Amino acid sequence: MLSPNSDQSNALPTHVAIIMDGNGRWAKKRFMPRLEGHRQGAKSVRRAVEFCRKNGVKFLTLYAFSTENWQRPESEVSGLMKLLSQFIDSEIDEIHKNDIRFNIVGETKQLPAFVKNKIERALAKTSENQTMVLTVALSYGGRQEIISAALKVHQALLSGCLKKEDINERVFSSYLNTVDLPDPDLLIRTGGEIRISNFLLWQLAYTELYFTDVLWPDFDENSFWQAIEEFRSRQRRYGKISEQIQSKS
Ligand code: FPP
Repeated sequence: MLSPNSDQSNALPTHVAIIMDGNGRWAKKRFMPRLEGHRQGAKSVRRAVEFCRKNGVKFLTLYAFSTENWQRPESEVSGLMKLLSQFIDSEIDEIHKNDIRFNIVGETKQLPAFVKNKIERALAKTSENQTMVLTVALSYGGRQEIISAALKVHQALLSGCLKKEDINERVFSSYLNTVDLPDPDLLIRTGGEIRISNFLLWQLAYTELYFTDVLWPDFDENSFWQAIEEFRSRQRRYGKISEQIQSKS
């Protein structure tokens, strides 16, 4: 098994974002209903949060439900909503005890009232926590987020709160849902597909991408370390050349 000490030459990522894919296939392989795959997926969520907390990854952002996922069969959508609400019920005390701030990005207005209520309480309870931020992307779409930010910028220009010449990347970012999060250093997608699926389109501009065939319910500590080791082996150049990066370090 890979361990945190096998290579300390590069830092751990500060912010890891995950597209948790493969729950349905995990269940299908076992002749189980898809919801059982999501239930096992929720256990992997608990493991991933614990991994980040133990190893000092300060920000973990999980893609739990996209704007496109509303098109799934009604029974799956309602099953996922119940699962989210159960997850908050069963985990929020532990999350709070571990000084983790619970955070949500996405169009939460569309969520059923019982989920919204749970979310509001979880946000309030953990709002002062400092050690880590767990963000769940719910009813989230990257393009929708950018359009909504552009509309807010437009409004700010009209009202005089913002001047055209003051708009730059940093200012535009402050109108996104992720205003208080740094951009992800590492994006992990499980389940074998090689695409971004409308996740954090603006924020992933310089993120290292890691794709694995492991299905999300099987994604364990060892799988997480493999992703981290791959991240550590890469050189992040942000458009510069290797020599400029080496001379700086
Ligand atoms: C994608 O797998 C997964 C989802 C759309 C839902 C993710 C939800 C969870 C992991 C459980 C609850 C989440 C939290 C935060 C408690 P898929 O269904 O598309 O899998 P498939 O591609 O194999 O069909």
